[in-house]
Amino acid sequence: MADTIGIRCLTTLGEREIDGLSDVLIDCVEGGASVSFMLPMTRAKAETFWSHTAASVARGERLVFAAEDADGTIVGTAQIILAQPENQPHRGDLAKMLVRRRARKRGVGAALLAAAERGALDAGKTLLVLDTASDDADRLYARHGWQRCGVIPDYALWPDGRPCPTTYFYKFLRDPR
Ligand SMILES: CC(C)(COP(=O)(O)OP(=O)(O)OC[C@H]1O[C@@H](n2cnc3c(N)ncnc32)[C@H](O)[C@@H]1OP(=O)(O)O)[C@@H](O)C(=O)NCCC(=O)NCCS
Repeated sequence: MADTIGIRCLTTLGEREIDGLSDVLIDCVEGGASVSFMLPMTRAKAETFWSHTAASVARGERLVFAAEDADGTIVGTAQIILAQPENQPHRGDLAKMLVRRRARKRGVGAALLAAAERGALDAGKTLLVLDTASDDADRLYARHGWQRCGVIPDYALWPDGRPCPTTYFYKFLRDPR
């Protein structure tokens, strides 16, 4: 990873964080990532999403990580959703792994993934699950020891409206036995 990138677990998401995280989300959706949003990707949709995420962080339901460059600009993010049904206290979901296009292929995604896994373990989670439509993300997770479960065709839509498949992955952070 570039030495200048730092990863921070955000305990609160203020205006500055919501602004920077919105820039990242808009850039990824405009770049074609299937991450819950359709084109046109407006600032209002992004800010609403991050405001709800901020409230969820404040309730202790999720961890949000930010990758920041030397001048504090957020260039990437990832989340661990901690809040799960009462029969799955050991499980978390990895979600919204996003790196803006100009910061990709420098190890930012790998650093976010490592921080998110560490954060999940520290929060008492031993199993993580995720789904992804991205080939780049697919390789990243496989490289970091995640197990590919299978592909569901036509699971969601690409931002331009074409149907897209998703691939499910899981990883045990520690031997369950
Ligand atoms: C998936 C995603 C998060 C990966 O982020 P990233 O920061 O590019 O990830 P990394 O840099 O760790 O790894 C990407 C590639 O760069 C390579 N790389 C890492 N550091 C490098 C360096 N210093 N020099 C050259 N290549 C490098 C990695 O080996 C990897 O290679 P690969 O493409 O052959 O697999 C990013 O592509 C993204 O945001 N995609 C859109 C959003 C999305 O779909 N997210 C998935 C939702 S689950």
